Amino acid sequence: MDRLNNILLWAGLGCFALSFLLSGLYPYLITDGKTPEASIRELAEDVSSDFRLLKEAYPIDFARAFPEGVNALTDPELATIAADDPRRGQSEDAWKNAYARALRDGRDLYIAEACWHCHSQYVRPVGNEVERFGPVRTTAEDNNALQRPVLWGTRRVGPDLTHEGGKRSNDWHIAHLRNPRSTSPDSVMPAYTWYFRRGFQIRRGVSSETAEREGIPADQSYPYPGLYDTKAEAEVALEKLKSSLSSNLEEEAERMFVAEGSGPDGDALALVAYLQWLGTWSPKTAEASK
Ligand code: HEC
Repeated sequence: MDRLNNILLWAGLGCFALSFLLSGLYPYLITDGKTPEASIRELAEDVSSDFRLLKEAYPIDFARAFPEGVNALTDPELATIAADDPRRGQSEDAWKNAYARALRDGRDLYIAEACWHCHSQYVRPVGNEVERFGPVRTTAEDNNALQRPVLWGTRRVGPDLTHEGGKRSNDWHIAHLRNPRSTSPDSVMPAYTWYFRRGFQIRRGVSSETAEREGIPADQSYPYPGLYDTKAEAEVALEKLKSSLSSNLEEEAERMFVAEGSGPDGDALALVAYLQWLGTWSPKTAEASK
């Protein structure tokens, strides 16, 4: 019996050693010697629309988490400036730099939280994996700095995330991260509540006509983008918002108020940016955009 235990122990340690060795060697084994590993900044050349929407929906936490994006203009902001305005060029650079930071931070959090313990990033050409998770992963797709260390994962408690980008909305990811059971009943994924913080929001209640017509509670209200640290800050922002409304929206302005709320912090935004990026880059598209 002792002998068997010994064999099992050494076989187990051997498997660990082999996997460490292989993941260490893999980056060298997959290179053709001509194509350099893509840097994170190169991966961020193609800024996804989901990332742009994160800034629109969560401007305060976005600005804190990705200061490089201070000059990045959202689509509604771009619509208000001329086509030859130099701010457009600066904005594109700012977007790419902010995106690069978000991808790196998101990847680091994915490692730190051991998301890889339950999720693989490797679609194999076996079984019905292609039907479930999308095209088989190629080695060329791993030839980039975000795959160092290679995030193949260890087990598959949850689905493979190779092609996760664009599959769900930002809102879905944020709701899922806060409470996986809210989007996926019976999920065994932990709730990552520590990526959410409390603060104050500007909200607007529905009008009594809308409540009646749509059959929703009369005290239903919806938040405006932005989660302020203090009530005073939110109130200042509310006054500014009200004064920017045209006079025929007076009745709307009356339904606006400040209330306590909670929302994703910068880390949650980075994780979502990373998840929405997965599978959207391929060496071919990078070549084509040069
Ligand atoms: C204990 C295992 C476990 C851990 C740890 C875990 N997940 Fe999950 N995850 C699951 C399971 C199971 C599902 C499928 C059910 C669901 O949607 O919640 C899932 C689903 C998902 C999905 C939805 C995939 C899709 O499109 O259907 C995403 C995205 C995701 N997880 C991201 C993460 C991230 C990011 C982390 C780390 C912060 C993480 N998971 C940690 C088990 C886990």
